[in-house]
Amino acid sequence: MSYVLGIDVGSLSTEVVIMDREKNYEYVIVSTGANSRTAAERALQLLLSKTDRKKEEIYFTVATGYGRINLPFADKRVTEITCHGLGAHFLFPTVATVIDIGGQDSKVIRLDPNGKVVDFVMNEKCAAGTGRFLEVMARSLEVELDQMGELGLQAKKTVPISSLCTVFAESEVVSLVAAGHPVKEIIRGIHDSIAERTSSLVKRVGLAKDVVMTGGVAKNIGVVRSLEERLGVSLHIPDEPQIVGALGAALIAWEEKGW
Ligand SMILES: Nc1ncnc2c1ncn2[C@@H]1O[C@H](COP(=O)(O)OP(=O)(O)OP(=O)(O)O)[C@@H](O)[C@H]1O
Ligand SMILES: [Mg+2]
Repeated sequence: MSYVLGIDVGSLSTEVVIMDREKNYEYVIVSTGANSRTAAERALQLLLSKTDRKKEEIYFTVATGYGRINLPFADKRVTEITCHGLGAHFLFPTVATVIDIGGQDSKVIRLDPNGKVVDFVMNEKCAAGTGRFLEVMARSLEVELDQMGELGLQAKKTVPISSLCTVFAESEVVSLVAAGHPVKEIIRGIHDSIAERTSSLVKRVGLAKDVVMTGGVAKNIGVVRSLEERLGVSLHIPDEPQIVGALGAALIAWEEKGW
């Protein structure tokens, strides 16, 4: 049998997707850690043993994500924008806008009806509005990252976060806790702050339906709801939002194979 491979080496997580001729696919997700190259190799080994396949059966490998440059076994390297677009279009053929919020950047991509990128904007200069911001805040508030979404939804009001920078927002959050504000309300303020930044990014490319959200932050239901309120649309969330870039990379590899 032969297969193709898509790898997304992100700043926080690395995903590998293996795909067959019928476009059936399987994946693994690992943390990237300090060495992006060993993360990709580790993820590939895990996936091969999970699926009982051999490295020799892989015909073509496409890499994406910030660590794609560093991967010696990739046959081709493609930008995250293209890969997220293709991955989202494969899962949701009616998609016109993709919102990806990862660990260190956020992006909004406009697609034509064939899944081709027509425009995009990116915030890569600042951690605020990204998954890193949520991680810093979860640590300060001593809550689990994967609990934050639900906790924020339980709040009856929002305590707004006024600082625009992660470092200042962290001290603001510490002061708000000390002043006796309920943690759930602060969490809601944190989610609103990310949603606010993301919706201004969306406005720069213009909102077109359907809208798909990808990246790890799509697992935070608090951010998702807050963003839906601001945009006035409901977001489509893939079953596993973190693999969409790697899935798009695998689809490019599939085209290369000429199946
Ligand atoms: N189970 C979870 N619940 C809530 N949030 C999560 C969960 N898993 C991951 N996240 C969020 O997703 C973020 C990482 O997203 P993702 O894996 O898409 O990043 P990445 O692709 O490595 O980064 P980038 O694309 O910026 O290089 C984390 O910072 C965290 O905020
Ligand atoms: Mg990413």
